[in-house]
Amino acid sequence: TAPATTVTVTGAGGQIGYALLFRIAAGAMLGADRAVRLRLLEIPQGLKSAEGAALELQDCAFPLLQDVEISADPRVAFDGAEIALLVGARPRTAGMERADLLAANAGIFGPQGAALNEVAAAGIRVLTVGNPANTNALIASASAPDIPADRFTALTRLDHDRAVAQLAAALDAPVGEVAGVTIWGNHSATQFPDVAHATVAGRPAPELLAERFGGGDAATAWLDGEFIPRVAQRGAEIISVRGSSSAASAANAAISHVRDEQLGTDGRRTSAAVVSTGWYGVPEGLVCSFPVTSDGDGYRVVDGLSLDARGRARLDASVAELVAERDAVRELGVI
Ligand code: NAI
Repeated sequence: TAPATTVTVTGAGGQIGYALLFRIAAGAMLGADRAVRLRLLEIPQGLKSAEGAALELQDCAFPLLQDVEISADPRVAFDGAEIALLVGARPRTAGMERADLLAANAGIFGPQGAALNEVAAAGIRVLTVGNPANTNALIASASAPDIPADRFTALTRLDHDRAVAQLAAALDAPVGEVAGVTIWGNHSATQFPDVAHATVAGRPAPELLAERFGGGDAATAWLDGEFIPRVAQRGAEIISVRGSSSAASAANAAISHVRDEQLGTDGRRTSAAVVSTGWYGVPEGLVCSFPVTSDGDGYRVVDGLSLDARGRARLDASVAELVAERDAVRELGVI
């Protein structure tokens, strides 16, 4: 049998951590034939919660789970890591300016990137979930000069899956029939969920939307007025209904992101935020969500999809936000 894969989860004592660890240990992320060693990173006040999760992991007697170690030291928790899920982050609190939020997170993702650079395994792949996810990934990557930038990604798969579900619901179609949806840009309210190249049961989504909502501008009005805001603001909707932020769905998306990155998508397109090398005119170095596929060796951006003027303007607006976040981090002297 293959040696166990070392997976480090930061913020493991939090909500998403609790929804994530058990499924990783059960084989949902890497497959039923790959054993895992879990390394949990927490800050001191989160250690007890992580320890509780570790006790429950033991009680599950997962055959694939080789061992669990908990630490508050990134150099210990990332030692030998082959996959790192950076979930722990500093949340925005009332009255906090964006610059304060970026500075607080730079104080987390900078040192974590440096620790990964020093002690992670040569093949390390890093998924950033903690918000602001794209810019936190940029900070981690910039702090890890020896790790190729394409090993760093940020999570927009939850937005992607939300878009798939909303499109399927609007067209009364099974979610499994939806293909080719793209999330472009930042994991934020400026993101652009795009169905221009999507298909449902093999038929172009724009055609089906025109049938459902009427031709001309009616389908576009639905996209701009209902679909995009619903997807982009779904996180806030979950908070208002559930009383706390999405956790199980975020954990599920993180698992799908890593599984597809590691095991491949079989030609199927999905969405992930990756370090741009200039695709679609997005400035090099920004961590931006694109249409991607994977052959089991990391994500590759699908180039050459057309963007109409409306789509271009939406992508440009989200990229402008990513540029502003990067510039604010530069001003702090972090990157
Ligand atoms: P939570 O507050 O329940 O858990 C966060 C955990 O991280 C806490 O246990 C905390 O002690 C820990 N932590 C904080 N700083 C740390 C550090 N420096 N090192 C290690 N651990 C640290 O939050 P929850 O609900 O689990 O969410 C985690 C993050 O994921 C948040 O930033 C949230 O905004 C983000 N998120 C991202 C989504 C996406 O689609 N990209 C979707 C949903 C949430």
